[in-house]
Amino acid sequence: PEGFLEVITGPMFAGKTSELIKRIERQIFAKRKAALFKPSIDNRYSEDKVVAHNGLSYEAFVVPTTEEGVEMIYRKTKEEGFEVIGVDEVQFFPMSIVGILNKLADEGIYVIASGLNLDFKGDAFEVTKELLAMADNIVYLTAICSVCGGEATRTQRLINGKPAPRDSPRILVGGMEAYEARCRKHHIVP
Ligand code: TMP
Ligand code: MG
Repeated sequence: PEGFLEVITGPMFAGKTSELIKRIERQIFAKRKAALFKPSIDNRYSEDKVVAHNGLSYEAFVVPTTEEGVEMIYRKTKEEGFEVIGVDEVQFFPMSIVGILNKLADEGIYVIASGLNLDFKGDAFEVTKELLAMADNIVYLTAICSVCGGEATRTQRLINGKPAPRDSPRILVGGMEAYEARCRKHHIVP
């Protein structure tokens, strides 16, 4: 079988998870053994499902965002003989996931990783950055800017309706109550 590493990226509300689910479902329709993995840090809507902002959901293996969690993805894929795997919210995993996903692709697995390219400050998430450099294909999605309706490539974090300051912690799980998609012009980091 032919291994392949595909990365789906862009800001929040761009449809990354929906695109991931769509691609996995297409592979299942083609009778390939496929599975989804997601980090346990993301408990926004469900414990055992990958859920998109539009409500689309799919069963997933929940793994911790530790070295052990990365190992579990590798082991489970091998044990179950998955031909296709999807990993959602890939930016939350440690750097070791880059090598593991590349290894799986080298071993003939079609790997689809979905995640944020940038944090709320507009700084690169290292894991996604490395995966993008090594990807066989990149699916770059954009969203609609909540201020002007233009092309959003950034994610605005809001605290009590105001732009979050630069020293706000990097990881803050949330949805529409804390984040908006914004274009470059309307993305603000005080
Ligand atoms: P999404 O890409 O599926 O919309 O989910 C992104 C998740 O990442 C969401 O739980 C919010 C979180 N997040 C951070 O922890 N830090 C950030 O800087 C940004 C932009 C999002
Ligand atoms: Mg998502």
